[in-house]
Amino acid sequence: MRYIRTNSLKRLFSIKRRSFDGDTPIPPEAYNTKGFDGSDPVAASLHRPSWRCYSFEEILEATGGFSSDNLVGKGGYAEVYRGRLGGEEIAVKRLSKASTDERKVKEFLTEIGTIGHVHHPNVLSLLGCCIDNGLYIIFRFSSRGSLASLLHGEDSPTIDWKTRHKVAVGTARGLHYLHKGCQRRIIHRDIKSSNILLTSDFDPLISDFGLAKWLPWQWSHHSIAPIEGTFGHLAPEYFMHGIVDEKTDVFALGVLLLEIISGKKPVDGSHQSLHAWAKPILSKGEMEKLVDPRLGGDYDMGQLRRLAFAASLCIRPSSTWRPSMSEVLEVMETEKLEEGRWDMPKEEKEVEEEEFWGFEELECDYDDDDDTSFSASPMDSISTG
Ligand SMILES: Nc1ncnc2c1ncn2[C@@H]1O[C@H](COP(=O)(O)OP(=O)(O)O)[C@@H](O)[C@H]1O
Ligand SMILES: [Mg+2]
Repeated sequence: MRYIRTNSLKRLFSIKRRSFDGDTPIPPEAYNTKGFDGSDPVAASLHRPSWRCYSFEEILEATGGFSSDNLVGKGGYAEVYRGRLGGEEIAVKRLSKASTDERKVKEFLTEIGTIGHVHHPNVLSLLGCCIDNGLYIIFRFSSRGSLASLLHGEDSPTIDWKTRHKVAVGTARGLHYLHKGCQRRIIHRDIKSSNILLTSDFDPLISDFGLAKWLPWQWSHHSIAPIEGTFGHLAPEYFMHGIVDEKTDVFALGVLLLEIISGKKPVDGSHQSLHAWAKPILSKGEMEKLVDPRLGGDYDMGQLRRLAFAASLCIRPSSTWRPSMSEVLEVMETEKLEEGRWDMPKEEKEVEEEEFWGFEELECDYDDDDDTSFSASPMDSISTG
């Protein structure tokens, strides 16, 4: 985080806002009651959560005493075990013993607090929690594991195009719900393939709400320190200044769409970010060059164009020129793509290129290992309002 370009912050908020849907949050009562998937998000958001507290004995028995055979995932600060309780498969997320850090405990509680209030077919549902002998969150088990393991797992068979398309659209619907369909706006802040779980039917479920933030409707954005998230997914304004709003997630979704299309990791072995690799290809309109060669050319060209075009808008450096989630869904699901509608004026394009010239290089300055999560303090910050 060495360069802070003094004008860029001003620029981010001074540019006339491009607005196709007004970018105004839709209060839950005004939310399109049919939703994009025919579900009823109002009813969903008013749905009373039905989670409960589990006893330590119950989860100990369900997981075979947290047997290593049942360990299915290990994230930044938690381990996840598979278990069986009353005929149902469950996942138990346990705060690692090593995580005595107060911030990690806060993240764990944030996750319970956030996920306990959301209800959507593309968001992982909470079954309950346990606060005896440590901290545990209990979820329904997702039998296909995470999208990351499916896309990048050594033994995983190639996921076909139809499934990739379904996962992309479902994830966008889930994110749209978090931004616009909940009683308060939820910014996830860590949208990435290891946080997208898959049901037996390959329906995607957004999970891992440890970094999530609730934003009041009247706040345009929030500024956060330290900056936490995952390399390759971080929007420039968040990475450079800690500024968080819906567009932080939109940027990360753009990277996720590229990952789904290409089968490439968000940051490769030589630390090149996926969006930096894809940008010139997208701007030349050579969408087919993005496609995972493992698909052997077996994909739907119209769907590819829409997903790739949505990705190109989502990864725009200036958050003002990124679409809202309603617009992303519109681009992904509308048959007739009106690309011209999204053109940026020439002068704005030049400003964008100039202001964010060093962003891709900045991202690669950090050392990382397999887990590219990180936390850092921003050099400057602005007040919320
Ligand atoms: N409900 C679940 N069903 C199946 N696997 C899960 C479930 N929840 C988490 N996992 C696995 O555990 C991993 C880590 O879980 P996550 O909630 O992302 O923890 P962290 O906050 O530590 O990143 C996921 O990437 C996934 O592989
Ligand atoms: Mg995770």
